Amino acid sequence: MHQLSPYIGKLKSVIAKDLILKYSQPGQLVVDMFCGSGTVPLEAARLGRRVFASDTSQYAVTLTKGKLYAPTRIESALANLDRLLKRVESLPMPDLRSVPRWVRAFYHPRTLKEILRLSEFLRNERHYFLLASLLGILHHQRPGFLSFPSSHLVPYLRSNKFPRAAYPELYEYRPVASRLKAKVERALKRPPKNSFHGLVDGIRRSSVESVNLPDAIDCVITSPPYMNALDYGRDNRLRLWFLGEPHMETMDRALSALSDLSGFTNAIEALAKQLQQKMRRGGHCIFVIGEQLIRKRDRFPSEELLRIFVTHAPTFRLCQVMSDVIPDVRRSRRRLAGVKREHILVFRKH
Ligand SMILES: C[S@@+](CC[C@H](N)C(=O)[O-])C[C@H]1O[C@@H](n2cnc3c(N)ncnc32)[C@H](O)[C@@H]1O
Repeated sequence: MHQLSPYIGKLKSVIAKDLILKYSQPGQLVVDMFCGSGTVPLEAARLGRRVFASDTSQYAVTLTKGKLYAPTRIESALANLDRLLKRVESLPMPDLRSVPRWVRAFYHPRTLKEILRLSEFLRNERHYFLLASLLGILHHQRPGFLSFPSSHLVPYLRSNKFPRAAYPELYEYRPVASRLKAKVERALKRPPKNSFHGLVDGIRRSSVESVNLPDAIDCVITSPPYMNALDYGRDNRLRLWFLGEPHMETMDRALSALSDLSGFTNAIEALAKQLQQKMRRGGHCIFVIGEQLIRKRDRFPSEELLRIFVTHAPTFRLCQVMSDVIPDVRRSRRRLAGVKREHILVFRKH
């Protein structure tokens, strides 16, 4: 389920699991306000914790909902998919004239029409697991995916490596239904044992600056965006576009609010003040944070975070700092070549 659809800057699920086991108990409320692909909420629900998740990205929220509302039985999931696909088949095919050229460049026109019709239907009817599964096969160079040959994590066409003239079969129409069914089968190979519905306190699309967190939080486990390091708008642009986020610039601005020191400081300050009010005494607040400096005058994110907590959340005490080496696969971008290490800061509320 963690592989439902790719996500840059994803936390290792074993780290999430270890932290959840160490710093919370079954039945307690675990919160992740930068939930990304839902690694922490999914592991927490698996371990019987209640969860609240939020993120400013529509893709993150869709993926997190997809994982937490995943079906528990493959037979009924496939039967349901068949029923829905029949309904979708009776809907009119969309017109591609309003689709931007950069999106059209990735698909055979017939495949694109099918994706558009299906994604809109799944969005309107809130079938998050199927929508997330569809996003998970949007682009790649393998035959089970829907695009012309392109990379999986960040959407780049690979027409130099696979020129149309030499590989005409890779540029043919790809029916969506059969590929989505295969994807659902893969995702549900080991379905969740129980439904997580009863454990979800909320999954919200909200920036950390304006999110209204629940009261009586027992544990926070989260990884804020590394200052300047990753570009969540640009790198997820194709998936976001199919989720109805057509305005790249607005999206980029919203997703990069924390990318400079002042944005990071403002957001973490707002968060620290809220946690000062809303966390239970004795609760733990854990930040997994990459160490990256673009400009010399910037401060290290963990130093800045510590300074903010000392000032704005005075009853929090830093009780542990751990370091982890970021594996090469997560340093997928050249700009990130310098981020080798992330720190895990553990605060306890007194
Ligand atoms: C390091 S990633 C989190 C990854 C996540 N732990 C996982 O395993 O997938 C940081 C997340 O912060 C989100 N984000 C960026 N700016 C934000 C903001 N102002 N408020 C809330 N979330 C934001 C991004 O969309 C991204 O999902």
